[in-house]
Amino acid sequence: MIRIRALTKQYGDNTVLRGVDLDAAPGEFVVVLGESGAGKSTLLRCVNRLAVADGGELEVDGMDAVHCADTRALRQRVAMIFQHHNVVPRLSALKNVLTGRLGAVSTLASVLHFFSREDIALAHECLGRVGLAHKAHARTDSLSGGQMQRVGIARALAQRPRVILADEPVASLDPQTSRKVLQYLHDASRALGITVLCNLHQVDYAREFADRIVGLAQGRVVFDGPPQEMGQADIDRIYMAPPSPERAEAALQPALALPSMARTGA
Ligand SMILES: Nc1ncnc2c1ncn2[C@@H]1O[C@H](COP(=O)(O)OP(=O)(O)O)[C@@H](O)[C@H]1O
Ligand SMILES: [Mg+2]
Repeated sequence: MIRIRALTKQYGDNTVLRGVDLDAAPGEFVVVLGESGAGKSTLLRCVNRLAVADGGELEVDGMDAVHCADTRALRQRVAMIFQHHNVVPRLSALKNVLTGRLGAVSTLASVLHFFSREDIALAHECLGRVGLAHKAHARTDSLSGGQMQRVGIARALAQRPRVILADEPVASLDPQTSRKVLQYLHDASRALGITVLCNLHQVDYAREFADRIVGLAQGRVVFDGPPQEMGQADIDRIYMAPPSPERAEAALQPALALPSMARTGA
């Protein structure tokens, strides 16, 4: 569903992605794990062309996302969930979810906020998938933070995407709420066969929810495998020690980072 090869991205003279390879199968839940500044958000943004990669290949559901002629078509297939549940507070949960359909309905209908009976039924179904069927008509600003984020997930699902990009979807939630939100996201993607790329910086959530973990450090993949294969040495590589000049220099040399990826069994 997603195929990324040697992807590079620079902002001015700041090289953020240094040749990223990543594959995600249909329905796979891939966690991109890395500390702040590793390039996780940039990587996700390249997938739906909120950022345009400088080099390499990036295919989503057979579409070339680097030299994409039809960004709108790409974004219909790729839904996004943000860290700060960007829901409209004064609208009901249902109306927020219906906005997920806007890309799919005609321009006139979307201007008039006219939704078909099918769209409304779909929105209810999506709220049901995140355990919020009973909150459909509640104003979104009366919901808790976790519930708002679940509305954001339901809205993404209502888009009927092939891929969901979730950029630190639980960053502002407490651990218990975070687990609940990730569980809903995981279960929905499993049930509907949606591929998820989920950025996280917490190892424990990654272990718990990922089918596969891709560890990113300074714009490079330093681990790629199932959670049970991620050992302490891999975690150390993902979360580099506090910056020291030697460490920073070593991290920039692929020859040092990659061969040691061979399973150390740590
Ligand atoms: N729009 C942008 N313009 C300039 N620099 C950016 C932009 N987005 C990200 N960066 C830089 O790219 C690097 C990686 O950022 P980011 O992808 O947000 O990492 P992460 O999500 O892992 O924290 C940082 O050094 C950040 O300052
Ligand atoms: Mg980020």
